[in-house]
Amino acid sequence: MTVARRDLLLGSAVVGLAGGIAPVPLIAADRRPADGAGALPMPAPVDRLPPALPVQDAARVLMDRGWLFHEGDVEPAALDTHNATYLSVKAGNARGAAAVDYDDSDWQAVDLPHDWASFQPFVKTANVAQGYRPRGIGWYRRSFRLDPALRGRRIELEFGGIATHATVWVNGSVVSHNFSGYNAVRIDLTPFARFGDEANIVAVRVDANAMEGWWYEGAGLYRHVWLGDYAPVSIATDGVHCDPRKRDGGWHVPVTTTLTSIAPVDASVTVEARLLDPQGRIVAQGQAQATVTSLDEGSATLDLSVADPMLWSVERPTLYTVHVRLLRDGQVADERRVPIGFRTLRFDASQGFFLNDRPVKLKGVCLHQDHAGVGTAIPDALIGWRLERLKAMGCNAVRSSHNAPTPELLDWCDRLGLLVMNENRQFNPAPEYRAQLEWLVRRDRNHPSVIMWSVFNEEPMQGTPSGVEMVRRMAHWVRALDDSRPVTAAMNGAFFDPVNVAQVVDVTGFNYYQGDYDRYHQRNPDQPMTSSEDTSAFMTRGAFESDPARHIASSYDVEAASWGDTHRGAWKKIAERAYVAGGFVWTGFDYHGEPTPYEWPTIASFFGIMDLCGFPKVAFDIHRAAWVDDQPVVAIAPHWSWPGREGKPTKVMVLSNAERVVLRLNGKTVGEATVDRLMGNEWTVPYVPGRIEAIAYRGGREVARAAHETVGAPVALRLTPARTVMAGDTENAQAITIDAVDAKGRHVPTANLMTRFTIEGGAIIGVGNGDPNSHEPEKGNQRSLFNGLAQMIVRPDVGRGRITIRATANGLKPASLRLDRLGVAPRAQVAAVPAETDLRDWRRSPRFDTRPAADLAPAASDNNGWAFVRAGTPTPAEPAGWRLYRTVLTPRRAVAARGGELSFAQVSGMASLFVDGQLVAEKRDPKPGPLTATLPAGEGKRTIALVVAGLGNIESGLIGRVTVRPR
Ligand code: GAL
Repeated sequence: MTVARRDLLLGSAVVGLAGGIAPVPLIAADRRPADGAGALPMPAPVDRLPPALPVQDAARVLMDRGWLFHEGDVEPAALDTHNATYLSVKAGNARGAAAVDYDDSDWQAVDLPHDWASFQPFVKTANVAQGYRPRGIGWYRRSFRLDPALRGRRIELEFGGIATHATVWVNGSVVSHNFSGYNAVRIDLTPFARFGDEANIVAVRVDANAMEGWWYEGAGLYRHVWLGDYAPVSIATDGVHCDPRKRDGGWHVPVTTTLTSIAPVDASVTVEARLLDPQGRIVAQGQAQATVTSLDEGSATLDLSVADPMLWSVERPTLYTVHVRLLRDGQVADERRVPIGFRTLRFDASQGFFLNDRPVKLKGVCLHQDHAGVGTAIPDALIGWRLERLKAMGCNAVRSSHNAPTPELLDWCDRLGLLVMNENRQFNPAPEYRAQLEWLVRRDRNHPSVIMWSVFNEEPMQGTPSGVEMVRRMAHWVRALDDSRPVTAAMNGAFFDPVNVAQVVDVTGFNYYQGDYDRYHQRNPDQPMTSSEDTSAFMTRGAFESDPARHIASSYDVEAASWGDTHRGAWKKIAERAYVAGGFVWTGFDYHGEPTPYEWPTIASFFGIMDLCGFPKVAFDIHRAAWVDDQPVVAIAPHWSWPGREGKPTKVMVLSNAERVVLRLNGKTVGEATVDRLMGNEWTVPYVPGRIEAIAYRGGREVARAAHETVGAPVALRLTPARTVMAGDTENAQAITIDAVDAKGRHVPTANLMTRFTIEGGAIIGVGNGDPNSHEPEKGNQRSLFNGLAQMIVRPDVGRGRITIRATANGLKPASLRLDRLGVAPRAQVAAVPAETDLRDWRRSPRFDTRPAADLAPAASDNNGWAFVRAGTPTPAEPAGWRLYRTVLTPRRAVAARGGELSFAQVSGMASLFVDGQLVAEKRDPKPGPLTATLPAGEGKRTIALVVAGLGNIESGLIGRVTVRPR
């Protein structure tokens, strides 16, 4: 199948999930009591799909499906002759697995996002920081066709991110060496492209032994890959800058559009921009003219003004759209739809952060891109779900620590109203790293969610003249691209050094060092500051007693790294200081790698407010109580199922944002206190089975209650989805919780049994349970409950129907769950094409007056006497005579085993075809026509020779494609 332009444009038509999809009634009834006693500690399922992410550039089509993967390196054969060496360095002649004709028939078919490290076992000798998973080297290959109608258009291939170092080849030419796992790799494919039946081959070698972090980074093509098809004069990728500004009492959207041209001549174009409100109504528009020089860039600037737009805020993240169209000769040649938000921001040295001139404390978390079961290959829908979990806790900010986030994360933050500290990875102003920093700012500067740029995290040179010189440059480049957001750096010390980088950034970022806040503020009263990272506390989800021998950290919020503080302690220091703009808890979720405070056999961190699966720890309620302002919060810890503990003193924590709280045990009041919103309230009561309950009051009126009950033994499993509906598009993944319930249907928080799953209508792409000490595989169809919970990540199959999931465990009643799979058109994907060998490269002998022998070959190292010709390139008309065309083929496995068909689409002249010296076919008619022969089975190199008698005065030789197909 050919990817025609029409197909390439399909993306716009089918991407949206919004609209036309009626909500489906809830299937899994939410049976939880109002006080939560015995309920699953996860939100009730919703009965709708997540919203569609915006499509900025409809000219791009996904290339996530149809990849082939090989784990391990592929060494090309040694170059044994001068001539082989000579040829090996020519364009198009990559060797080994990068070669166009490489036999990848035994490679594994994979879809993106793909993180091969997430499939690895945990190995004690593997790198601790990367979570004890072997990384290594991997290769990917992908084929696709381009319609001949696309000739002359700009074709761009984009990898969202490749972990870690990558080399990319297109059609045998190296097109990129990329030394970061976090930036996009963009390739102008146009000069390398092949059109028509011949396949284009992309090969990627990924070296994941290279590391850029001290955390789990995943391995491979873990973000989307796109193929874009643009007019010869088009809008550059990330070429629209349209971040609103408030000026002179009104709002402006300065729209600067960068244009790029591969056209053979200079072009005059019109750029038109419209501002659309959330309902799609045009509220402002403008036009500008520009000239774009051939093979160069141009730009057009215009200004849209709007008097009183609805503002973007954390509570109401209202998005407008700037629709930019490029017109050439009156025709639309290209367009973008960029979501924007109207909001002002400023950091004040004494009052902290202001959004729309209102103070907003940054209640933030640091995030690594990592989730149970899938590692860094997180489906977009799951990214959204993770961010919603944070929002539910009252979190209003995230930090992409310590790297550029995947762009979909920012789309979600725009939509959900989360503020982003957007962080650069490499602290280095050398040209390659400057390009990465500038790429980040260009890509992300239209997002209303992004409120500051961080040039680094914790760099030992932060207190040196060298470090200052580096930051000066980097901050300057950021400001040149975006003058609206401050630059910060996440420092861990050097704050008081005579020379330090805080002197050249707009906001000082404090990682830890909370005891220095006041002194720093006193000495630098005009310098805004924020905590860029804090806390680093340890909790094992569902565990309430620390047990260092078993690598378990108590959830009572009593353990923290020596450089950090407990959740409560760290936030208190921020909350009590207006001049500290806010904080970013290390971390929102546990992540693989950097196992702290315990190493092997521990493979993940204990820092998360939630565990690897997004199951809440007590820290979730601690932050909810401190951060949620608009609704009453009360929560109680621990659970109340402690057989054998009867009569023993037991610490009870109540977290609330109300005024007073009463604690009741089996109906009897056992405690009462004024709420300490930041530190929580604690009592020690003798454990008695039954019901422990916290009732929260405001103004003497009950506003909320929470309870735990002593539950019985587990008797059945339960499956609880995040959503009762899924889109039948293979992408709309979701997390499904598995837990065990007692005879009364109550969640059993202590169950730790193995559960097994089957699924129809979808696939389980990962499993987890949040236990940082577990070595169970994260792929497959089984997982132990850990302190009552496990999770599977489910991806829907294409099409309408049902997804049926069943879970079983020894001795328990099985659970089954049915989800509605809605008929939603999957996003368009560039088609992969079946493997066949193109015999492209031939040597052509000089012309002879007499018929040459079929075994005639160029002399060793003759690169001049015999021409290099491509199949499809005719030999120009010449006096009648003979030429010999020669090539060497190594058949792919199937052809070597069973033989194949050798097919010349068009040969001009009479011809005799030889394989390994044996005549296999003849063409007697001199007029152009096909020639086919059977290629006998056989491994290794095969010599193909075609002796052609040219008639004279017409083109002769290989005027069409030559292919080898399995029989
Ligand atoms: C910080 C660092 C983080 C993480 C954390 C653990 O110093 O920025 O990446 O390592 O410590 O506490």
